[in-house]
Amino acid sequence: MNNSEQMEYWNGEAGQKWADNDAMMAEMLAPIAGDLLKHANIGGATRVLDVGCGGGSETLMLAEHLGPQATVLGVDISAPLLAVARQRARAAGASGTRVDFLEADASNHVFAPASFDLLFSRFGVMFFAEPKAAFVNLYQALEPGAKLAFSCWQPLQENLWAMLPLRAALQHLPAPEPPPPHAPGPFAFADADYTRSVLAGAGFNDVDICSHAVTMAWGRDDDLGTTARDMLNMGPVSRLLQNCDPTLREAVYSAATEAMSPWFSAGKIRLPGAVWLVTARKG
Ligand SMILES: C[S@@+](CC[C@H](N)C(=O)[O-])C[C@H]1O[C@@H](n2cnc3c(N)ncnc32)[C@H](O)[C@@H]1O
Repeated sequence: MNNSEQMEYWNGEAGQKWADNDAMMAEMLAPIAGDLLKHANIGGATRVLDVGCGGGSETLMLAEHLGPQATVLGVDISAPLLAVARQRARAAGASGTRVDFLEADASNHVFAPASFDLLFSRFGVMFFAEPKAAFVNLYQALEPGAKLAFSCWQPLQENLWAMLPLRAALQHLPAPEPPPPHAPGPFAFADADYTRSVLAGAGFNDVDICSHAVTMAWGRDDDLGTTARDMLNMGPVSRLLQNCDPTLREAVYSAATEAMSPWFSAGKIRLPGAVWLVTARKG
């Protein structure tokens, strides 16, 4: 199984950008972790694996939500994001005792069998080259009866926060080749039937996939232009802008700034989105 492209991505310029902007992302995504925690009814879990934990903000939320009897291991392939996660845990006084981090590919790392009673992930499980094999690997790390709970994005068309910048970019840039269906990336699990088949194929039972509306509030209380740039540089359009001519990039920034203007208030661009809240059980 080869996740080398994702390893490069999350350890290169993009991973560093996520690390640099972690505070903004953590604030914006906190409500989604909160919604998933409530929805999945995970009280009582004591040994938790947080897959694709990134900068660790939801790892700490999990530890706090579950209380002192729980330990949480955040696993991620991104060294820059794990550095942020470790620093965040140290600052919260949670490092090494209740919260720990591991740099590893969750899809093939050999976890001790049956060592977790909850697998949790906020947007961290859509990047596997071979999703079924990855979930088979994660399944063996869970004890019988363990829960799985993750969030993933619904299709691009249901997510105006991603569509609007894309439309602005396509006024100036050629449309990229559409990725093959279910290709690793933010929208890999957009098709709920496909996700269900991956999880059932890996052995999970009671797979439930619930539609959930969210608001993405981008920005750090700055002006519209800066906020629009943040959004373009962090969201799905960032991949298109990576090797783009600087003049074209500026044209995309202006088109996006104009498109975002009706959605900007009090220092943030607030746009609707749609996620799936996915739960399942082992055995
Ligand atoms: C969209 S980010 C989400 C980060 C974090 N869960 C959050 O919500 O802030 C996706 C994360 O998944 C991680 N990731 C991607 N593929 C992975 C893999 N095979 N094993 C572990 N982590 C992976 C990336 O490095 C990145 O940190």
